[in-house]
Amino acid sequence: MSSRLVGKFPEYRPRRLRRTPVLRQMLAETDLRPHHLILPLFVRTGSGLRKPISSMPGVFQLSVDEAVKEAQAAYNAGVPAVLLFGIPETKDEHATGAFDPKGSVQEATRALKKALPRLVVITDVCLCEYMSHGHCGIVETRANSTEILNDPTLEILGRAAASHVQAGADIVAPSDMMDGRIRAIRQALDSRGFTEAPIISYAAKFASAFYGPFREAAESAPQFGDRRSYQMHGANALEALREVAMDIEEGADMVMVKPALAYLDILWRVKSEFGYPTVAYAVSAEYSMIQAAAERGWIDRKGVLLESHYAMRRAGADLIITYAARDLAQWLSAQTP
Ligand code: PBG
Repeated sequence: MSSRLVGKFPEYRPRRLRRTPVLRQMLAETDLRPHHLILPLFVRTGSGLRKPISSMPGVFQLSVDEAVKEAQAAYNAGVPAVLLFGIPETKDEHATGAFDPKGSVQEATRALKKALPRLVVITDVCLCEYMSHGHCGIVETRANSTEILNDPTLEILGRAAASHVQAGADIVAPSDMMDGRIRAIRQALDSRGFTEAPIISYAAKFASAFYGPFREAAESAPQFGDRRSYQMHGANALEALREVAMDIEEGADMVMVKPALAYLDILWRVKSEFGYPTVAYAVSAEYSMIQAAAERGWIDRKGVLLESHYAMRRAGADLIITYAARDLAQWLSAQTP
């Protein structure tokens, strides 16, 4: 800004501000507060389970009772929302576990809303965790190729989303990237009377190596092939804008960009282009890389986490889904000028 001003007003001389801690805070252009954060949780049925995920130190697969404790701790630190991923006991080729009323996400949703009625429960709607082959849609095997069937998948996604809302979910977040899914899910919800349940669309979701640790956590690695036929190529920005436009058109209430740090330009463009409520997902490897370097003493974990989450807010994220939500919230609420 100063260079533009200097050109326009030759007499303008920026004064050097002494950035005392209080001024630093008073003049911050971007704020990062606990209420901007959403904590992802990996839930299983049963009780007393807290299974570490080796590639994500500090993150666990949790049984429903443990998930309630984890959510409570985050909530006490000021994190208002969680995002649930379910791990079913059995998988098949039709993802029947995804809409099972006794499934892990449905059970966890009920328990969380009972224990913490004001906690915002967001559920991930996708089929990869429930499919024996680990893909996000129905797979058809032809003579020498396999295809993901877009349209038959939509119906299952709609049923899954409805079963989450039926269990008490406040918001559903479809992450499958099938075409037309936002409209299909909106219709599935509306036709069952869930007209008030909002949808966060994973609108700009890139086919990314940064999802690696997540697939260990959610046990959802594809057994063959990859997700490049339905997730976006990292070279494309305009395509991301088109995806977002389509999802808004189909009825998305918030849009997401994912991963976050490697796609800050997309975040900025999505926010400036649409001015829509925009969510960034700091995905698993973004977390794991910071954990790994911090464990070796190579970086200052707190400093790097705060700085990178400020970057997401600066780039346009209204909300940030992050595995570090609880720590960040604790640091941020302890901050005094
Ligand atoms: C499911 C899904 C994935 C993530 C969120 N929802 C994995 C994938 O697409 O393979 C990744 C989140 C993360 O890496 O933290 N489709």
